[in-house]
Amino acid sequence: MGLYSISLYGLYFLLIITIIYLISILIDAYKVMVWGYAPYIRSGKKIVNRILQEVDFRDNSVVYELGCGDGRFIRELAKQREINCIGYEYSLAPYLLAKLFNFFSRKKVKIYYKNFFNENLSNADYVFCYLMPKPMEKLSKKFENELSPGAVIISNTFAIKNWRPKKVIELKKRGVLSNKIYIYIK
Ligand SMILES: C[S@@+](CC[C@H](N)C(=O)[O-])C[C@H]1O[C@@H](n2cnc3c(N)ncnc32)[C@H](O)[C@@H]1O
Repeated sequence: MGLYSISLYGLYFLLIITIIYLISILIDAYKVMVWGYAPYIRSGKKIVNRILQEVDFRDNSVVYELGCGDGRFIRELAKQREINCIGYEYSLAPYLLAKLFNFFSRKKVKIYYKNFFNENLSNADYVFCYLMPKPMEKLSKKFENELSPGAVIISNTFAIKNWRPKKVIELKKRGVLSNKIYIYIK
């Protein structure tokens, strides 16, 4: 096989990857705009650190991150505690990033390319999410049906309608907005 055909195959490969990536971005944009689903925006380091300070994650407990993005939160948590960390992500680009970061991380977490609405959360001790009002509303029913009493839910920015938080932490930002972290106990 000549050099010319190898570089042609390489070019085709890159083209296919780019097309798949662009299609996945379009699907994500559709989900965000039409269904009101959460886009991929990471929780800031300050927020992650504050949650890790505030919440006493028990050793050997089970923690789910629903819509884990690149997995920053569970990766940080797994570095600090002996915890079973599971992340669900249905968007291709952040999922692949999460897998890549996990590969290089000292402490491994489990990352699945899945829609968390289709997964059972009954063994969760803690759930962390940073989503949007619409999925939070749908999730509240799932939490009611599946989570055991005593399970802790931590939500970055978005409250669960009709649930009373055990604690609300407010983080000051330079701009007008300030971040709130809602902590619930079922
Ligand atoms: C705002 S980002 C938060 C990322 C990460 N949890 C963090 O705090 O850094 C929300 C993520 O949830 C994912 N997501 C939204 N709905 C989902 C679903 N039903 N199943 C799996 N992932 C979902 C999005 O693709 C996005 O990456």
